[in-house]
Amino acid sequence: MHWIIKTALLTTLLHFTPVRAEIELLHWWTSKGEIKALNTIKKQLNDHDYQMVSTSVIGGGGDTATTVLQARALAGNTPNIAQIEGPSIKAWDAIGILHDLNNTAKKHQWNETLNPLAKEINQTENGYVALPLTLHRMNWLWVNHDLLTQLALDVPVTWPELFIAMDKAKRHHIEPLAIGKQPWQIAQLFESLVIAYGGVDFYQQAMVNLDKTAISSQEMQEIFKQFRRLSLLVGEQLADHKWETATQYLAQDKSLFQIGGDWVLGELIALNIDVPKKIGCYVAPQTQGVFLYNMDSFIFMSRPDFTVQQANDLANVLANKTFQSQFNKVKGAIPVRNDIDLSGFNVCQQQASQDLEFALIHKLAVPSMTDSMAVNPIKQQAINNELFQFFKNDSIDSKAVIRRIIAIASSDN
Ligand code: GAL
Repeated sequence: MHWIIKTALLTTLLHFTPVRAEIELLHWWTSKGEIKALNTIKKQLNDHDYQMVSTSVIGGGGDTATTVLQARALAGNTPNIAQIEGPSIKAWDAIGILHDLNNTAKKHQWNETLNPLAKEINQTENGYVALPLTLHRMNWLWVNHDLLTQLALDVPVTWPELFIAMDKAKRHHIEPLAIGKQPWQIAQLFESLVIAYGGVDFYQQAMVNLDKTAISSQEMQEIFKQFRRLSLLVGEQLADHKWETATQYLAQDKSLFQIGGDWVLGELIALNIDVPKKIGCYVAPQTQGVFLYNMDSFIFMSRPDFTVQQANDLANVLANKTFQSQFNKVKGAIPVRNDIDLSGFNVCQQQASQDLEFALIHKLAVPSMTDSMAVNPIKQQAINNELFQFFKNDSIDSKAVIRRIIAIASSDN
């Protein structure tokens, strides 16, 4: 073909190919299920002429991603969007580095369409400063039904029943609990025990308010006793694997139970596991009626080349109702919008939605401290690490840990 025609064709093609705005997203969604959910974001952006650049930071729960974002902000090299949770949103806004999303909030009527938790968590005195994406329930017990039948067990409703079931599984050389040897994962078990043995009000006092009286109470001693019993039961199996590896063990009939958030559901769906037939979702023992939650949001970071108008144009695309429904269906969470029909969602998500409604009415919805929804990241990670050290080392006395947690709670940062 003559070079003149080639040039003419190329010029024409370039003229019609939309120039895609590159958008960098910093996040920690790296498991199979999380990547599937991330791909719905990529498609949504691509369909609106944005090219998503995914900057993923490995580490379930986002501890490492939080550190990376802080370092990049200090270096003046922030991404356009960053995944974030809970009180950190207010902290980032306080340093004047976020775009407000009030135009988007108005366009999508967030004051009417968002769940009350999403309204509270994503607003500051500057209005809406983050885009809410998911509402994950954390007090779930995931059960391998085939192994439960094989062991002639019923689904445990209390921790004593759970311990009996786990003991039996262990005697039959089945891993009782799918869990990775990481602070964030281990701390979640403790959080579940606090609600189970102390109740929601005690959880709020001890883990959200970091109240010294609650932390040094007799209830807390009892909770550490159960936590030690759990560490002795699962300690030798502990391997340094990710939460999603634990979910694979559950799916592959290697583990009987997993305790944790319904990102596990997203993973099981991505593994083509039948939920609830093969793996069932049950409220974590002794937490019936309680909704322990975490929420994923996106912050849009102010940069010379990323204006508030550009941020709201982008947020508008991700606030879209159809997209939010698609994303949450794959992620395993429930939508933050209250105008999304859940009939096509998994039964576990439908139950989570009903349980959240009940919990909100009865003041039984509580934020997860171990997963960044209650205190600042420094205290959270310090407490998670204390719990992790205690769990790994049978010789550590709970009284020493309680003293150190009180010191962390009392520190200024
Ligand atoms: C949480 C996050 C979830 C899920 C989980 C495991 O902090 O909110 O979306 O991905 O980590 O990585």
